[in-house]
Order: sequence, then structure tokens, then C-alpha cells
Amino acid sequence: MVAPLRVGIAGLGTVGAEVVRLIERQGRVLAERTGRPVKVVAVTARSKKKRAVDLSGIKWAKDPLALAADPEVDCLVELMGGAGDPALSAIDTALKAGKSVVTANKALIAKHGLKLAKAAEKHGGALNFEAAVGAAIPVIKTLREGLAGTGINRVYGILNGTCNYILTRMEQEGLSFDECLKDAQRLGYAEADPSFDIHGHDTAQKLAILASLAFGTQVAEKSIYVEGISSIAPEDLRAAAELGYRVKLLGVAVRTAKGIEQRVHPTMVPKSSSIAQVMDVTNAVTIDGEGIPPITLVGPGAGGAATASAVVADIADVARGIRSAPFGRPVDKLQATEKAPMERHEGGYYIRLMARDHAGTAATIATRLAEQKISIESIVQRHPNGSEPGKSAKGGPVPVILITYATHEDAVHRALQAVQRDKVISGKPQVIRIEKN
Ligand code: HSE
Repeated sequence: MVAPLRVGIAGLGTVGAEVVRLIERQGRVLAERTGRPVKVVAVTARSKKKRAVDLSGIKWAKDPLALAADPEVDCLVELMGGAGDPALSAIDTALKAGKSVVTANKALIAKHGLKLAKAAEKHGGALNFEAAVGAAIPVIKTLREGLAGTGINRVYGILNGTCNYILTRMEQEGLSFDECLKDAQRLGYAEADPSFDIHGHDTAQKLAILASLAFGTQVAEKSIYVEGISSIAPEDLRAAAELGYRVKLLGVAVRTAKGIEQRVHPTMVPKSSSIAQVMDVTNAVTIDGEGIPPITLVGPGAGGAATASAVVADIADVARGIRSAPFGRPVDKLQATEKAPMERHEGGYYIRLMARDHAGTAATIATRLAEQKISIESIVQRHPNGSEPGKSAKGGPVPVILITYATHEDAVHRALQAVQRDKVISGKPQVIRIEKN
């Protein structure tokens, strides 16, 4: 009989409790699949309040550090969250004692992942974090193992359920951003501080991890250009739909001639693309591998059961004796990256302007774009609500929507500054990048 893998769990919130239940429920299957029983031997949490999970026969550790140092624990499962202590010290303690660690903590991995991976390498334990990105979607394993023999050109995805929920409802029901955010909070999708979701930082942390696995870059959130979704208006979603696009908050890491570009921003994607079909809180990641058509993984990116599924899969790897390099290769082989210079970003753009409805306005806008060598794919001028075609020429403003062919971002900015100086538009132009599949 092989000795069981002895698991200690720090954090008994929704995910922690579900992990205890899942290990209990799947005990026989886990032992068959890994060749070794998996047993939760100790737990710790902030409070000893009663929980809807059976903890009889399981030791209660005084605190996370005591759990990490317990000689009867082989594998520490960190489910407390937070980018610093006590999670950081507990993980560090466990790794330095040669133990393996499983965590769902994206913020901690994005911030301290390299240091912790080094400790894992040095002391021989595993550091597994499948649940940190896309919860139940096995995207870490796909990049690290499934595609180990394939060069990656681009990885991009919907990595934040809250933002996808908000954009879906805004598009489908024409609701305002604030209304949808309130619902997302009420339903428990948003982070404690929702600005973390809507301003793109949650997506950026997950993207930093994916980029490292895909391209061998050092995980570094500061190398990522980040823009959130709070400026997106229902009229952008309507216009996008009419033009054959949908707006998604994407995290994109792409190999370019100038290096690896990592960026998070609202993005127009063709309605026919796989990623455009992903609605509500669902997450998805598309991987463009060399010589193969894109692979898209779709699934639940948050929630107790979905996160516990990935955590238990990581524990199973530890039980099997697998000790993969956390970021797919030794830490000293990972390359430093620079923040993406977005002014050199190349792609198509959606531009929405409030134009004065005078003769010559469209010609002025077209001229300014042409001066920057920007070619227009389509241009639409809308009639203001209630006005009839041919009867609205009272000086505007009227929305003008442009789609450009691929160009540089600084050219778009220069053209729009010139249009503003010409005083043919009012307000700030809305600009959304287009990502082609
Ligand atoms: N707030 C996150 C989301 C939870 O909305 O996707 C998962 O990281």
C-alpha cells in the first residue's frame, strides 16, 4: 500500500470547503488515477465557525505558517488569497521545507511567482496554480504540457467573468454599465473591490501568468498595458453589432517583431470568432500555435466548484509525483519583458465621433485620416434619435462610426487630435482596438 499524500488546506471559504468535499467524494477515483490515496490531514482558517463540510478527524492548525511547517503535511493548499502575508510566508515556508504547494492565488503568483518558483526548483517541490487562471479551464496545463512541443504566436482570452457579464448584458439588454456592475456584485461575481475587475487588473494578473507559460517571459504585471471597460457605452456595443463585431475585455499576449506585446483592453472581435460566442461570466482562452489552427478553451472561470476542480487536479499531479517547472521552464531561462509601447501597436480601430452635422465634416475627418495614411474600411453616420434622413442638418452633433484597416495607434491619435483642432467634432472620440482571428 502506497502512503497517502497528506494535504493541509489553508483557507476554508467557498473554494476550500469545496476542495475538502471533492477529495472526500472523489477519493477512490483519485487513488486509482494517481496511484496513491489523497487525504486531507489538517486545515486552518481565520475563524472556527461552523461550516457545511465534515472536518471530523482533520487536525486544526493554529495558523497558516504552522500548517505549512507541519511535518505531517506533504502538500500545502493555499486558498486564503491576497498578494502578501500570510499566504506568501506560508507558501515560502512549505516550499523551503521541500513540500509541494497548490494555490488558486493569481495575485500572489503574478507578484511573487518567480521567487516562489525558484524556491520550488531549489527544494524539489511542485508549485501548481491551475486554478489561478480561468478556474476549471485547464489552460496552464495546456500551455505547459499539451503544447510543450509547439511554438506559440498569440494567446488571448476573456479572463474576467465580471467584465464579460457586464458587456453581455449591456449588449443584449441595452443597459448602462453601472446597472450591470451592480447586478454582477449582487450575484457575487465581482472581486471585493470591483475596480480590480472593471479596470482590467484581474485580467492583467492572469495574462502575466499565461504569457510566461506561452513565451518564456518573466511573469510581470507591470509589463502589461491595461485599460478597463468603464468607458464603453451601450451605443458602442450596438454599433459593433451592426458592423459584425462584439466588444470583449481581452487579455492578449502576442509575439511581434519588436518582442512580446502584452495588453488588456476592450477589444472588438468578429462576431463569427469563437471568442465572440463566449457570453455572461464564462471565460475563454484562444491559443494560436505555429502550424495548427487556433485552439479555444471555454469554461467557468470562477466559483467554488470550478476552482476546486482545478485545485484537486493540481493535488493529483503532486500525488503522481509530477514536479513541472511552474512556468514551464527553469526560472533563469525566463526572459525579462518591456511594457508594450502601445503607440506602435498595429491593428484595425473602431472610432466613434460626435460630429457637427455641417457640409464638409466627413471630408475633413477623411482628410485627417488620409494624412496619417489611415485607410477607412467603413464609415457610418447615424441620424440622431427621432430625426429623419435629410432633415437633421442643424449643426449636429451626430455620431459617426469609422472602422479602419490596420494602422499604427500613434497615427490614429495624431489624426484625431487634428480633427479636434478642426472643431468638427465635440467631446472625446471613442477608440476601440480590433483583434482579428
Ligand atoms: N472576479 C473574478 C472574475 C473572479 O470576475 O472573473 C475570478 O478571478
